[in-house]
Amino acid sequence: MRVLVTGGAGYIGSHTVVQLLAAGHQVEVVDSFANAKASVVPRIEALTGSLLTVHAFDVCDRDKTEALLAGGAFEAVIHFAGFKAVGESVAEPLSYYDNNLDSTLSLVRAMNRHGVRRLVFSSSATVYGADPELPMREELPTSATNPYGWTKVMQEQILRDVAAADHSWRIGLLRYFNPVGAHPSGTMGEDPQGNPNNLVPFIAQVAVGRRERLAVFGGDYDTPDGTCLRDYIHVEDLAAGHVAALHRLQAMAEPVGVWNLGTGQGTSVLEMVAAFSRAVGRDLPYDIVERRAGDIAVSYADPSRAHAELGWRAVKSVDDMCADAWRWQSANPQGYPDA
Ligand code: UFG
Repeated sequence: MRVLVTGGAGYIGSHTVVQLLAAGHQVEVVDSFANAKASVVPRIEALTGSLLTVHAFDVCDRDKTEALLAGGAFEAVIHFAGFKAVGESVAEPLSYYDNNLDSTLSLVRAMNRHGVRRLVFSSSATVYGADPELPMREELPTSATNPYGWTKVMQEQILRDVAAADHSWRIGLLRYFNPVGAHPSGTMGEDPQGNPNNLVPFIAQVAVGRRERLAVFGGDYDTPDGTCLRDYIHVEDLAAGHVAALHRLQAMAEPVGVWNLGTGQGTSVLEMVAAFSRAVGRDLPYDIVERRAGDIAVSYADPSRAHAELGWRAVKSVDDMCADAWRWQSANPQGYPDA
């Protein structure tokens, strides 16, 4: 298929582009490079032996997006582009609503106009809200606890409404749990700008000496070791879930499919620190501090629908996630180069 990938230079996007190319798809990327470095592109090309066409603009730009869809002869789009930092969304709600909703509206309008009606969308387990029933199943009601989460709930709703108005659409909503890890080559991985918000990038920066100690947010949760449980999923498994969803869209009877992409296993913060320490070969320093506002104690998927309908399941272990994240971080202590 000819596939357009928005946000294809970002963390999950870049890993998915590699797998799409390996599966024989023709891929073009559009990325604003607001939260990605151009130096990922030659690395994708080196891993796949393909030249990648990259359009450097923001899909919020309706004219440019319109022109791209008009001329691209795309059969499907995977839409990763979006802002994703929970804390930043609380501080700057308008820029989150603006960017995340605008980009989706601009993209879907242009797709509709040019008859490209297959879309795989990056949603999040955050749409299960503050106190979800466990394990999280796709049928649960959606809500959110911060503006970032609401933009995901709203984008899901927009896409459902678009598909309800025109049944020729085929849309896959993928609800990611906690993506971590890196490409096993060590040449691609997560490269947060500034202070990492997420656990594994923070641990990786402690391990490589960029930060002194990890702060573990809360040791008094109602969990076996007192720290929060999350469903960490290797980014390679997550990328494979996108390829599976893209294939599934072609055979889908209903216009919209919703799939959790997780492992179904909860891992605590301290278990993750221990696993990363095993990967590095030494203990990593941490302190248990106050809880972080907005964290829920436990989050893990029921991934059975994705297995039944996409023929997909996560296969990589927490040790694989840490070994690959460490290979990436130790080979690229400062992340991707600027040039
Ligand atoms: N944590 C620490 N120290 C840190 C960072 C995180 O102890 O420096 C803890 C958190 O308190 C939490 C766990 O590690 O218990 C995981 O935190 P992350 O920030 O890595 O992930 P979250 O589960 O909070 O967030 C992720 C995604 C969001 C998404 C959310 C809910 O990053 O995009 O899941 O689906 F909204």
